[in-house]
Amino acid sequence: MFYEPANGHGLPHDPFKAIVAPRPIGWISSMGRDGAVNLAPYSFFNAISSDPHLVLFSSEGAKDSATFAEESGEFVVNLASRDLAEKINASSIDAPRGVSEFAHAGLTEAPSKLVAPPRVAECHAALECKVTEVRRPNGLNGKPAGVIVVTGEVIGIHIDEAVLKNGLFDVVAAGTLARLGYRDYAAVTEVFEMVRPRWKG
Ligand SMILES: Cc1cc2nc3c(=O)[nH]c(=O)nc-3n(C[C@H](O)[C@H](O)[C@H](O)COP(=O)(O)O)c2cc1C
Repeated sequence: MFYEPANGHGLPHDPFKAIVAPRPIGWISSMGRDGAVNLAPYSFFNAISSDPHLVLFSSEGAKDSATFAEESGEFVVNLASRDLAEKINASSIDAPRGVSEFAHAGLTEAPSKLVAPPRVAECHAALECKVTEVRRPNGLNGKPAGVIVVTGEVIGIHIDEAVLKNGLFDVVAAGTLARLGYRDYAAVTEVFEMVRPRWKG
């Protein structure tokens, strides 16, 4: 089949996010100017640069994570893993501002080292970030798409020693979780290695 999204897909459910999958989940903790703490998962999330380490997440509408990150200039990306899947989902609840999803999901706040928002103590890794840019992209029609894209530079990284195997971050041990389409998720259970070819001209 072929379809133009603007004219509809004719399927029972929109396949777009099932096609652009798996997507890593940035489990974003942030803090408002008033000290309110927030935690929510974002699968419109990725790393976009290795030097410097840049990550971004996209908020469909003005949600607390983007608002707090823009207000404070800081956020933390906590690693989403299979053992915490239910708590990650619980933290996506549309709680009113001022209600911490840490408490709601039964999670422990651990202090960050370089930024104010706490990290999730239970996570196998966390990236402390400073906001570098907040953008509101347009669609083809030139009108704002209604999303807020927050980019940040990673200035500190926590790793649980238990998932370091021979000095490598073991994603199977970490149980790294990804978002698929519909209501589906995937956990990393298998890894294979390939060496990148180099042109020997
Ligand atoms: C796994 C998962 C991934 C999500 N990804 C996104 C996303 O990329 N963008 C978005 O706007 N909402 C996303 N959501 C929904 C938000 O987590 C939800 O709207 C949440 O209440 C936002 O919280 P906040 O207002 O505290 O930031 C996702 C939810 C789940 C469960």
